[in-house]
Amino acid sequence: MQAFSSLISNKCEALSGTARVPGDKSISHRALMLGALAVGETIISGLLEGEDVLNTAEAMRQMGARISCGSDGLWRVYGVGPGGLREPEDVLDMGNSGTSTRLLMGLVAGNPIAATFTGDASLRKRPMGRVTVPLEMMGARFLGRSGGRLPLTVQGAEDTLPIEYVLPVASAQVKSAILLAGLNAPGTTTVIEGTPTRDHTENMLRHFGIEVFTDELEDGAMAVRVDGLGQMRACAIDVPGDPSSAAFPAVAAAICEGSDVMLSQVGINARRIGLYETLKEMGADIAFENERIEGGEKVAGLRVRGNGALKGVDVPEERVASMIDEFPVLAVAASCAQGTTRMTGLKELRVKESDRLLMMAKGLEACGVRLEMGEDWLTIHGDGKAPKGGVCVETELDHRIAMSFLVLGCVSDDPISVDDAAPIKTSFPGFVELMNDLGASIAPPEGLPDYRLDD
Ligand code: S3P
Repeated sequence: MQAFSSLISNKCEALSGTARVPGDKSISHRALMLGALAVGETIISGLLEGEDVLNTAEAMRQMGARISCGSDGLWRVYGVGPGGLREPEDVLDMGNSGTSTRLLMGLVAGNPIAATFTGDASLRKRPMGRVTVPLEMMGARFLGRSGGRLPLTVQGAEDTLPIEYVLPVASAQVKSAILLAGLNAPGTTTVIEGTPTRDHTENMLRHFGIEVFTDELEDGAMAVRVDGLGQMRACAIDVPGDPSSAAFPAVAAAICEGSDVMLSQVGINARRIGLYETLKEMGADIAFENERIEGGEKVAGLRVRGNGALKGVDVPEERVASMIDEFPVLAVAASCAQGTTRMTGLKELRVKESDRLLMMAKGLEACGVRLEMGEDWLTIHGDGKAPKGGVCVETELDHRIAMSFLVLGCVSDDPISVDDAAPIKTSFPGFVELMNDLGASIAPPEGLPDYRLDD
């Protein structure tokens, strides 16, 4: 039977209960990559077993690491040691994952090996010039399609050069690619970022015994420096729940009046929680409970109650990097709020898994939301009531677009369906089950074959 991947979300009652969202995607990728470089056995608990991360694991295996998952749920990685990466024998298919691709290009660039990357239709459209430009400065060579798009071959440097590079876009992926290439360069590699982006690479490098220095420059920019040729020690890693995944049940609870949901062990790294700050400003009842440090990252229980009191806000532009993946679901919250929400500085949303600005604007408009969109901004006018819904939304292989509209379907007058929910498993395996356990009503459209996420 052919798997059918449409899903429909019906209006539900208030959500309630406790849930644990899957492990953080950014941290999971980095744990596998650095574990694969370190000497000895790295043991990872809570790893996200989503397709994107599994693609990273497979690529690291192809480059010589031994990686296994035990019946205890722990992942064990035996690294190749410094300079030990092997040339992959085949093309590395990174599926939907931009993070795997860009970070691994950095790793390959710093080693004297060649690798060819490809991916699905979404990834093959995404710009890679942002990583190939600095990595060429470090000595790597690239041959790709026009616009630096995949499929693309990297010939890593024989003698990697340390560079100082000012990021032209706020991107943790670009910063990380350069730092990872810098691990094999003699001397100090420096990345300067005008806007601080997620710092999981820096944190995890430190966890593996590599010194990473950060200092604030006079103009407020941050310099991140790593000295190359250090020894990495295998270690134990506890991956917290992904705040970007928690965003979906959290917004669902915030817009379904009377809800009371607890999401346990969610990572609350300061550079990832812009959505929660914004929702609080909108009047949402959100609390971080039992805040603590686990495995070097701050975690908390996230309690969200639906108080039916969301109002529109202006989202400060300097907050964009800390919620870059959360704009689709924030747009859902804004559509249910009373008043206008203005989101600016969103140029990067155009080059995510889909053109997220366009996909959200098109989908929300079809659901009956009043909005305006510009090249890098979106303004949503809410009237304090849930939109009408009653449409099937196009998702363009974008997991977060699919999940956002399924969340909106929890409150819209008429059900909302998404054309293709299969990409959800790239980041949030078990999304439908988790949402339905909390009280949502998400299912395959009636009369269609069974929805089989795992095919
Ligand atoms: C990520 C960085 C962000 C984010 C992506 C994960 C990472 O991308 O959108 O989902 O793990 O470094 P950019 O670096 O393109 O902003």
